[in-house]
Amino acid sequence: MYPDLQDKVVIVTGAGAGIGRGIALRFGREGSIVVVNDLRPEAAREVAQAIAAAGGHAISLPGDMTDELEVNKMFDEVLRIYGRVDILVNNVGLFEFGPLVGSATEDWDKDFRVNVKSTYLCSNRAAQEMKRAGKGRIINIASGAGKIGGTWSRGYAAAKWAVLGLTKSLALELAPEIRVNAVCPGIIDTDMDAAFVEEFSRRQGITPEEFKKNRAASIPLRRTGTPEDVAKAVVFLASDEASYTIGEAFNVSGGLVMH
Ligand SMILES: NC(=O)c1ccc[n+]([C@@H]2O[C@H](COP(=O)([O-])OP(=O)(O)OC[C@H]3O[C@@H](n4cnc5c(N)ncnc54)[C@H](O)[C@@H]3O)[C@@H](O)[C@H]2O)c1
Repeated sequence: MYPDLQDKVVIVTGAGAGIGRGIALRFGREGSIVVVNDLRPEAAREVAQAIAAAGGHAISLPGDMTDELEVNKMFDEVLRIYGRVDILVNNVGLFEFGPLVGSATEDWDKDFRVNVKSTYLCSNRAAQEMKRAGKGRIINIASGAGKIGGTWSRGYAAAKWAVLGLTKSLALELAPEIRVNAVCPGIIDTDMDAAFVEEFSRRQGITPEEFKKNRAASIPLRRTGTPEDVAKAVVFLASDEASYTIGEAFNVSGGLVMH
C-alpha cells in the first residue's frame, strides 16, 4: 500500500474492463479518488460501483478518448467536481491482428488512433492542469509488443512503440514537476487476449485451452499475467516510492521481455 496515493484524483481511461478495471480497483483500495472512464457507460458505472461497494471513492465518466471534444469534456467535468487531476493512467488500447498481406489500412489507422492518439490527447490536457498545479504523474500502458514486435501485430507493435517514444519525450519535457512513465504488460488474461487466443488456436487446429497451456509453458514464470499484476506496477510508478524514475518502460511480462 502507498499512503501518498490516498485522496489523489486519478483518471483511468478504458477502465470498464480488463487491465484498466484492475488498475481502477487497485487505486480504489489505495484510497484514491478514482475517475473511471470507458467508451461503454455501463461498464464504467459497474467499476465505479464496485470501488464504492468496497469502501472506496469513484465516479464514472464515459467518453471516447480518441475524440478531443470528449476528452476535454471529461477533464472539464473532473476539474468542476474535484478541481484537480493528480494522476492520469492512459490505459485505452486496441489490438488489431492478422497477416500483413490483405490487411486493411483502416486497421492500421485504428491501432494508431486508439493506442497513440488517445494517449497524446489525454496527456496534453492533463499536463496543462498538472503544470498549473506544479505536480502530477502520467502512466501509459504500452506493451511488450512495443519492444519486441509480434507475429500479426505490426500496427499494434508500431503504435505501442510510438507510445514509448511519447512517454520518453514527455518525461523529458515535463520534468521535474510531472513524472511520466510507461508499463509494458506481456500476456494478460483479458477480453483483448481472448480474441487473440480464439483466432490463433483455430488456425493451429487446437482448442483455446490447449493454446493457452502451451503459451503459458513458454513464459519463464509459467503463467499469463493478471490485471492485478499490471496494477501493482502502476501504483508503484504513481507513488512517491518511484520519485526518481521517469521515462521508464517497466515490464510486467513474467520474463517474456527483459529490456
Ligand atoms: N491483454 C493483454 O495481453 C495486453 C498486453 C499488453 C498491453 N495491453 C494493453 O493494456 C491496455 C488494456 O488492455 P485490455 O487487455 O484490458 O483490453 P480490453 O479490450 O479487455 O479492455 C479495454 C477497455 O477500453 C475501452 N476502450 C476502448 N477504446 C476506448 C476509447 N476510445 N475510449 C475509452 N475507452 C475505450 C473498452 O471499452 C474496454 O473496456 C491496452 O492499452 C492494451 O493495449 C494488453
